[in-house]
Amino acid sequence: QKDGYPHFMIKEIHEQPTAITRTITPRIKDSLPCFEDDNIPDSFFEDISDITVVACGTAMYAGMVGKALLKNKFGIPVSVEIASEFRYEQPVLTDRSMVIFVSQSGETIDTLEALRLANKYTKKTLSIVNVKGSTIARESNYVLYTHAGPEIAVASTKAYTVQVASFYLIGCKIGLVSGRMTKEEAKTFIENLQEVPNLIESVITQAPEIEQLTKRMTNATNAFYIGRGLDYALSMEGALKLKEISYIHAEAYAAGELKHGTIALISEGVPVIAVATQSHVYSKVISNIREVKARGAYVILLSKDKDITDKSICDVHISLPQAPDEFVIFESVIICQLIAYYTSTGKGLNPDQPRNLAKSVTVE
Ligand code: M6R
Repeated sequence: QKDGYPHFMIKEIHEQPTAITRTITPRIKDSLPCFEDDNIPDSFFEDISDITVVACGTAMYAGMVGKALLKNKFGIPVSVEIASEFRYEQPVLTDRSMVIFVSQSGETIDTLEALRLANKYTKKTLSIVNVKGSTIARESNYVLYTHAGPEIAVASTKAYTVQVASFYLIGCKIGLVSGRMTKEEAKTFIENLQEVPNLIESVITQAPEIEQLTKRMTNATNAFYIGRGLDYALSMEGALKLKEISYIHAEAYAAGELKHGTIALISEGVPVIAVATQSHVYSKVISNIREVKARGAYVILLSKDKDITDKSICDVHISLPQAPDEFVIFESVIICQLIAYYTSTGKGLNPDQPRNLAKSVTVE
């Protein structure tokens, strides 16, 4: 069943180009987003005042990327809520609020209860779910199924990237129907999305290089992931992947936030995975990186630069294939998944069976 791969996790990392193609292709007609086959009418995406994304873990981090995209590119107020918090809070929702529930399994109890609560306030509930016929899919007003196929590894990989891709389709649709995006802009956006599977294919070829560099990570007790904007959003998922399968304490920080406290934790040799792919904040992130580097951090930099040899910036540079800023994050996340995977195996752990974790959390 592992098709020759040593673990399900690495098999599923490799399945991502296919999973994304399967998820986006039925939702694209004439290079524009189309949810006809999902029976979601265009009117569902009209007249939205705000969006709340509710989920847990990796699914919630996919929502963080969705938020960074929808808010900044399409000017829609978006908040991301942890399902176990949302379900016990007083929701601030109106009938123009869209609430998006993200879940691979479709059975996570906190997400399900949060959905049941939101259903009392708005008819605009939408779930992004991988497992067909699951409870969350059945109880939401509309469902957009991701087509990742069964995900066996506890650490989510392909389910995350298809969730993110779904947000790109939804964002583009809302951008179009709200007039925030022209048809031409939407077509270009969707054509770029269709290129993502190829981008991922080319990044996966860097796996042996990533395996080499993670040898340095296996001794770490702490690691930090930093970035701004979309890079910060994906860093959260990068940090979660590392901690759940390698047991290294890892946190993601908005790069500009470091100097407000966290930089005190940076000492000689602490790994910092720095993601600097967003042009409008590139120079800002680089100066944040210099600050941690000056304090002895071991910096692994992911950027679109061809080559960075300046040792005052990074110890290792991973060059990502050229892609528009919004799409390069699909490349960065693959690198983060590989870093986590090889750190885990490098420590002699089984990434498919992380301690204390279950694939589906159906009890509180
Ligand atoms: O099935 P769900 O997507 O609702 O699960 C939510 C989380 O438990 C899940 O994303 C978890 O964080 C990942 N498996 C971690 O890799």
